[in-house]
Order: sequence, then structure tokens, then C-alpha cells
Amino acid sequence: MKNKQVIELTHKYVMNTYSRLPVALVRGKGSYVWDADGKKYLDFFSGLAVDNLGHSHPKVVRAIQRQAGRLLHVSNVFYIDHQAALARLLVRKSFADKVFFCNSGAEANEGAVKLARRFARKVLGQDRYEVITMKNSFHGRTLAMITATGQAKYQEGFGPLPEGFHYAAFGDLASVEALMNDRTCAVLVEPIQGEGGVRLASTEFFQGLRRLCDERQVLLICDEVQVGMGRTGKLLAHEHFGIKPDIATMAKALAGGLPIGAILATDRVAAAFSPGDHAATFGGNPFVTFVAGEVVKACYQERLFANAISMGRYLMRRLEGLRKKFNWITEVRGLGLIVALDLTLPARPIVLQGLEQGILLNAVQEKTLRLLPPLTVTKKEIDEALLRMERTFERVNGVQ
Ligand SMILES: Cc1ncc(COP(=O)(O)O)c(C=O)c1O
Repeated sequence: MKNKQVIELTHKYVMNTYSRLPVALVRGKGSYVWDADGKKYLDFFSGLAVDNLGHSHPKVVRAIQRQAGRLLHVSNVFYIDHQAALARLLVRKSFADKVFFCNSGAEANEGAVKLARRFARKVLGQDRYEVITMKNSFHGRTLAMITATGQAKYQEGFGPLPEGFHYAAFGDLASVEALMNDRTCAVLVEPIQGEGGVRLASTEFFQGLRRLCDERQVLLICDEVQVGMGRTGKLLAHEHFGIKPDIATMAKALAGGLPIGAILATDRVAAAFSPGDHAATFGGNPFVTFVAGEVVKACYQERLFANAISMGRYLMRRLEGLRKKFNWITEVRGLGLIVALDLTLPARPIVLQGLEQGILLNAVQEKTLRLLPPLTVTKKEIDEALLRMERTFERVNGVQ
């Protein structure tokens, strides 16, 4: 099938929930993908922070082939060797003592909120259920998670919404404190607001949040779905701020492109769950957990987190150069390989022009571009990306 046919079939048979870019991607290798008409693109989109090892990484391909021929799925009614091994690996590399596996970011966040409510009632013995989240956040698309998400546009038309979510200003400790009361069980926060436009808060904010949560017996949950797995140069982005949460959620890049979610927690908190309290049929199956284990090991063996830091710095330095040339770029910001450009122009026409110039970019907000290269990206590929972006920007300069 060519691009045109895939687009026609999609419009005819797939529910209309995405505002898609007009190409069908059919193959990938490293930092490059090809569409159904054979056109090649440099991928600075990475499947929305999923393809952190690039495409068709040999270790991922080998892991998939190996486990596919051995065992895909059983059930959590049985013990699963690769699930236990992946949990041990994540525990060894993080603040956590225990892990629960599910299938997506929203599902992991939903489970984290269930765990926090259960902890308050069972361990603290208090009827606490309120969760403070941040304005401009994004936590997923289930009913509870659109409610946790502090942006009205995701909630409109889907009520009634679950009770107990309140919104503070990201980066403003006083606004979190003002919402805390004796019903608060948790604060749920992204270390960097990804969908909100790559918004960063200070180390003081996160350290203050940790202190405040400790004082009030409130759990701190970090949503690491987008920025975890090394995107910022650490396994979990909260490590940059010198804090440890009680719970963290992961998903997206954890299994190299296969669906997975994970709830990481300390022993004290995880103890609130007993058999029957939470479950997922596919969660932590042998196939996905074997592949995820190989993906995590590859990140360390290939020093990809260090690469994310050094390549992120190089990318931002080069983008500052572009900002000087195009006065409609107002700010370059990011951490590691999650980088945003604020513009005075709409971002979508730039993304469409990027396709013409052979580069995949993301319009994360109306006037903000987000760059998410794979963590395997090289200096040469960043130079190529800058050349393609410069050509893209020169062309939108003329038409806007
Ligand atoms: C921070 C954050 N949390 C949760 C989600 C939802 O993840 P999923 O789409 O896997 O449910 C996303 C997705 O973009 C995210 O960026």
C-alpha cells in the first residue's frame, strides 16, 4: 500500500481520534524511518518518546525473536521468570523496592492512585483519597487520568468525572500547600511536563514538595511515563532533583516499543496491595518483560543516558544558533533529549514542512515544537537534523 491508500483506509475504518500527519510510516532503522511511498525521514519524534533505542535495534530484534519462540503469555496466576528479573533490575537501579507491571502509562498512573488511596486507608488508617496534581499536566486518557490531568480540554464532554482531584500550579509550592488537607493522600507530578510543552520546575520546588509530603504524611508520585527511561539522561528524571518519590510510574520506552507500564514503589507503600487488589491480564507477561529487560540493559551497556546528556547539550547549543537566525523562535529549553522551541508562529505548518524536508518533528502545543530524538542519536545526525530544520524554517519564513 502507498501513503494515499493507507490514509483512505484509515479514514474509512479507524475511529477518528487523532489529528494525524499525512504519511504512513512502514519501516525504521536507527534514527531513520521510511514511509509507504519510500521517502526517508530523520526521526526526531521517536514515537512520542517510545523509540529511545531507535528503530530495529539489533538487541531488541534479537530479544523479540528469542522470546517469541519460547513463551509469549501465561498469566499472573503463575510465577514469571522474566517479570521477576525485570523488577529486580528496576529496583536495583532506582529508589523502589517493588514493581507492578501493566500495559500503558495511563494504566500505571491509575494503579498508582489506587495504591495511594489503599495505602492511606490500610496503612495510615485514615480516610484520605484526594490527589493533588498540577495545572497543565498530562497523565493519560482513562476517566480518572483525564481528571488527574490539569487541562480542561481533555475532560470536556466526558463527565461525570471521578472525585478527589485538585490542581496546583506547577513549580509553586505554596499553591500545593494551599490544597493540602486531612483528606489528601498523594501529590502526582511529572518531573518535566512533557505534553504541557516541556515545562521545567526548580530543584527547590521538588525538594520542597518532598518535605511537604513527608510533613503531611502524603505520598509523592512521580509520573515518569514520558521522561523516564533515560530521556533526560537519568533512568528516572526525578533523580536530577535529589529527591526520592514514594511511587513512580513508567511506560513508553521501557520495552523498546512494545506496550508496557510499571508502578514502582517503596516496600512501605507497596505493602498496601494484597492479592486481589489490583491486576492486569497482559501485565508483565514473559514476552514484554524479557524484551524490556534487554532494553534496560542495553541502555546501560551502551551508555545511552550519558549520550542523552551530551547530545542534548549539543542539540540545544545548535538550536540556540537557529534561534538567533529566526526571530520567531523565542526560547529553547529542555533536559537531555527532550527539547522544546517556543515560537511566535503556529507549530503545525512547520511540522508539515519538516515532512517535506525529511525530518519528523512534533507540535506539542500550538506554538511549541518538541524534539525527541532517540537516545542513540549521534552528533552527525544532529548536524543533519539542524540542516533539515534550517531548510524547513527558511521555507515557513517565506509563507507565514
Ligand atoms: C507524562 C505522561 N503520563 C501518562 C501518559 C499516558 O500514557 P499512555 O498513552 O501510555 O497511556 C503520557 C502520554 O503521553 C505522558 O506523557
